[in-house]
Amino acid sequence: MKSSFALLPIASMMATGATMLPALAPIAVAKEQVDPGKRLFLQCRACHTLAPGEPHKVGPNLGKILGAKAAQKPGYKYSKALSQSGLVWDYKTMDHWIENPSAVLVGHKMVYFGMKDPAQRRMLIRYLSRETKSGDPK
Ligand code: HEC
Repeated sequence: MKSSFALLPIASMMATGATMLPALAPIAVAKEQVDPGKRLFLQCRACHTLAPGEPHKVGPNLGKILGAKAAQKPGYKYSKALSQSGLVWDYKTMDHWIENPSAVLVGHKMVYFGMKDPAQRRMLIRYLSRETKSGDPK
C-alpha cells in the first residue's frame, strides 16, 4: 500500500511533464549538437590524450600539436617513418592524416581507418586545436 503513495507524486509530475515537453525538446536537440568535435574525438581517444603534458597512451600526447613538427614528444617511441618524415602538422597535413594516415606516410604505426567526411574532419581539427592549446590551425 505504501508504494502506491510513493507513486502519486510521480504520476502528477508526468501529467505536468506532458505539457512541458514542447519547451524541453529544443534543449534536447541543442545538447545533441554540442561540440561535434568532442564526439568525433571518441575515435582517437583510446590512443591519445590532448592537454599538453598529459601522459602518452598507445599514441603520443597531442598537446600543441597543430603547427608543430611531427614526432617531437619526449618519452614517446615513434616509428622510424614518422620520426624521419619531416612533416609539420599544419591544417592541410593534419586533414590528410585524419582522412587516411597511410596516404600521408608509409610505415607509420597509427592503426586508424580514417575519417572520410571533410566536414567532420574540420570539426575535429577545430576541437583538436582548442583542446591541445595549439591556437588557430594554419
Ligand atoms: C589505435 C590507436 C590510435 C588511434 C585510434 C589514433 N591514433 Fe593517432 N597515433 C597513434 C600512434 C601509435 C601514433 C604514432 C605513429 C608513429 O609513430 O608512426 C599516432 C600519431 C598521431 C599523430 C602524430 C603525433 C606527433 O607527435 O607527430 C597525430 C597528429 C595523431 N596521431 C592524431 C590522431 C587523431 C586525430 C586520431 C583520431 C581521428 C588518431 N590519431 C587516432 C595511435 C592512434
